[in-house]
Amino acid sequence: MSFRIDQQNHFEQLGLEKLIQLSTAFYTRVYADPDPQWRAMFPDDMDSAIQNQYEFFCQRLGGPQLYSQRKGHPALRARHAKFAITPARAEQWLGHMRLALQDVGIEGEQASALLEFFEHTAHFLVNVQEAKE
Ligand code: HEM
Repeated sequence: MSFRIDQQNHFEQLGLEKLIQLSTAFYTRVYADPDPQWRAMFPDDMDSAIQNQYEFFCQRLGGPQLYSQRKGHPALRARHAKFAITPARAEQWLGHMRLALQDVGIEGEQASALLEFFEHTAHFLVNVQEAKE
């Protein structure tokens, strides 16, 4: 099993505090999104969504297995199955994440490597094939 997205250990380079900042910036944008159908997917408890995400990023990027110790296997496809994820929704997610990376000052090659992983994963999670507008 691979815990790295490439040859770098992004967790060591970024640290847990930066990942917490990234997830906080991302979900601040997600919860401020004016699209009501988008907002309806997310639980009222933003703090738990933030924790789920940064614990997952931590382990996926080469750090301790925080997510799995608390919740078991990430099984991302299964955990997203109850949400209708169209290609447009994947782009909506990525749009918030691109801005969140900028918010917290993750730039250059590190941002590119993370975005490549996010783009791959977001499109892998698409479960409703609907034409993009
Ligand atoms: C493609 C568009 C996506 C949509 C619409 C979406 C939507 C959601 C929603 C509504 C939740 C529930 C929030 C919670 O209770 O934690 C969630 C959880 C989560 N998402 Fe996504 N997501 C997307 C892409 C991604 C990507 C690209 C990743 C990883 C790179 C990701 C990782 C996670 C994780 C780790 C959780 C927590 C799962 C859990 O513990 O239940 N998601 N997502």
